[in-house]
Order: sequence, then structure tokens, then C-alpha cells
Amino acid sequence: MKTQILPLTDESVKLADKLLKDGNLVGIPTETVYGLGAIGTDSEAVKKIFIAKGRPSDNPLIAHVHKDFDLNKIVNVTREYALKLKDAYTPGPLTMVFESKGVVCSEAVCGGETLAVRIPSHEGCQKLLRKVDAPIVAPSANISKHTSPVTAKHVFDDLDGKIPLILDGGKCTGGIESTVVDVTGEVPRILRAGLITKEMIEAVCGSCEIAKHAEGDRVKSPGVKYSHYRPKCQTMLFEPNEIDRAKEAYRQAEADGKRVFIMCADQMQEAFSGYNLLLLGSDGNQIASNLYDKLLEGEKKADLIIALSFGREDGVYLGIMNRLKKSCG
Ligand code: TXA
Ligand code: MG
Repeated sequence: MKTQILPLTDESVKLADKLLKDGNLVGIPTETVYGLGAIGTDSEAVKKIFIAKGRPSDNPLIAHVHKDFDLNKIVNVTREYALKLKDAYTPGPLTMVFESKGVVCSEAVCGGETLAVRIPSHEGCQKLLRKVDAPIVAPSANISKHTSPVTAKHVFDDLDGKIPLILDGGKCTGGIESTVVDVTGEVPRILRAGLITKEMIEAVCGSCEIAKHAEGDRVKSPGVKYSHYRPKCQTMLFEPNEIDRAKEAYRQAEADGKRVFIMCADQMQEAFSGYNLLLLGSDGNQIASNLYDKLLEGEKKADLIIALSFGREDGVYLGIMNRLKKSCG
């Protein structure tokens, strides 16, 4: 199959709508990462997602809808705070897990009774969702375990030959996947951290829990138990107070003939002057926005990426550190 990349326009949206309704997969931009979309009520199309990605069959998909889509068509909204969250943070990088009505096919939710729903803010994505006017289920558009794509080219690099079309909506601004929140219980519970932080949810709902997943637990958000986000080169991860150890590892690898890059926040730039650098920016939102882009740039030009963490896990850094540990730890 030939894979086309087309800029997202009225015309390409029309083509994507037709391809999706004919049971095909389409690469789609969102404000977080690119998604690999299929119509959520089409079991055969949804099965193709798991095959194209090599995704474990027990890891459910998120259903994406446009901002005027009536959620009651696909889920039961049982908690009042869920509506407050919807008002406050959607369209945006927030996914809420509700009781499913079974309209989205069981293949998409891996036989489970809940459905994760997201209303992306990316304008081009909204345009497509409105045109389709049905839930589009979409995981990140990478081969399973690889770093998630934040440009159409990244999607092409992983899925060339496997899908007919990628809509190019520019580089994703958010850069890490949406916050996934279980809104079926008494209080909201974060299953995957992201740009909508615990603090932001507390501000609207009064309280918010974070699900703790120990290795081997039966977890509520199956995706978090898998190794994830890994670039194709070697990686190492150091704390910000381990600069000397990071430099030692760098010299050692260079002496072994390896191409090495340090990946760090801008504040570390001086400490590593003269070293090959992948700079992430200076605050949490910039770092999130650049993280996958720099990992995917790094895997092309480095044999080893040495990442420096940031010494904090508050706010958006929780989601960033979760990705950094899984990609480089
Ligand atoms: O930002 C995003 O969320 C991107 C874009 C494309 O929207 N999508 C994305 O999808 O990251 P994926 O499939 O790579 O990750 C979905 C996460 C996984 O951790 C999965 O286990 C969890 O959401 N999830 C999906 N449905 C769920 C459900 N019913 N209950 C609990 N967790 C669920
Ligand atoms: Mg993913």
C-alpha cells in the first residue's frame, strides 16, 4: 500500500472521511501526538489498528469526538464532576473514562465495560471529527513501544506502507499524550499523567487521586504497564546532580566510537558546553512539547542519548518524568 501525506485541508478531510468510512486507517494530528484513527463502530477497521501497531490486545483505545458531539450517545455520565472537567478542560488534552454504552465496538475497548473519550482541541482534527460525526478511535500512531509521533513525517517513518493516508496538521504543540482520568468513581483518578495536571483537576473538582501502578499489578489503565516510548538507540538517564557521572558515561561511549548526545533542559546547557546537545527548552510545557521530537531526532543521529532529568515531579513534570523514565530509564 502506498502511504500519502496530505496537508490538512477541506479536500483532504473529505478524502480521510471517505477512507475511514470505507474501513481504512488514517493518521491524524491532535494537539498532543498524532493518532492512528479508525471509525469506532467498525470492528474490522479497529482490528487493523492493533495489527498495524503490533499493539497488545488487552490495551483499549481512546474514542475521539468533536466538541458538540453528545457524549450520552456513547457513554453514561454518572458523576457531576465529570461535566465540570469537560467544561473546564475540553477541547484539550484530557481523556475521561466513562461507563460505555457499547456503541463503540468491543474490539476497541478490549471487551471492557468502560470507554475512554477525548475531545481534541487541534482545529484540523476538530474539522475531521465534525465531518465524520462519529467517534474515531485512535491510539498514538507509532509502532507499539516506540516513541509517539509529533509530526506527520514521524508517523510515516513508522507506518509507511501500512496505511493509505496521513493528514499533516503540523507539529503537535502539546507533545505528550493526554491525561487519562477515570471519572466513574467518587473522585477523579488519574490513570496516566499529562498536561492537565492533578492540581488543575483539584481546582475544578476539589480532589483528585493518582492511581499507583506497581509492577505486576492488575492495573486499571492497561497501557501504563507496558514498556513504552523508546527511541531506537541506546539511552541512559541521570539525575540533575549526576552531571559528572553523565559526562563520564559520555566520554566512555565516545571512546568506544559511539555518537553520543546529551538531552537536557536549557538550564543545563552551560554545564555541558562543548558536548553534543538535544535541548528540550526551559519550562515544563516546552519540555513536554519537545520531548518526543528530540528523542526521535536523537535516534537518527545518536547511538546513545544521555538524558538528564529535572529534579521535580510536580505539575506537568509528573507526566514528563513518567515518559522520560519509560523511554530512557
Ligand atoms: O493524547 C492522546 O491520548 C493520544 C492522541 C492520539 O489522542 N492517544 C493515545 O492513545 O495516547 P494510546 O492508545 O497510545 O494510549 C491510550 C491510553 C492507554 O494507556 C490505555 O490503556 C488508556 O489510555 N485507556 C484507553 N481506554 C481505557 C479505558 N477504557 N480504561 C482505562 N484506560 C484506558
Ligand atoms: Mg501510545
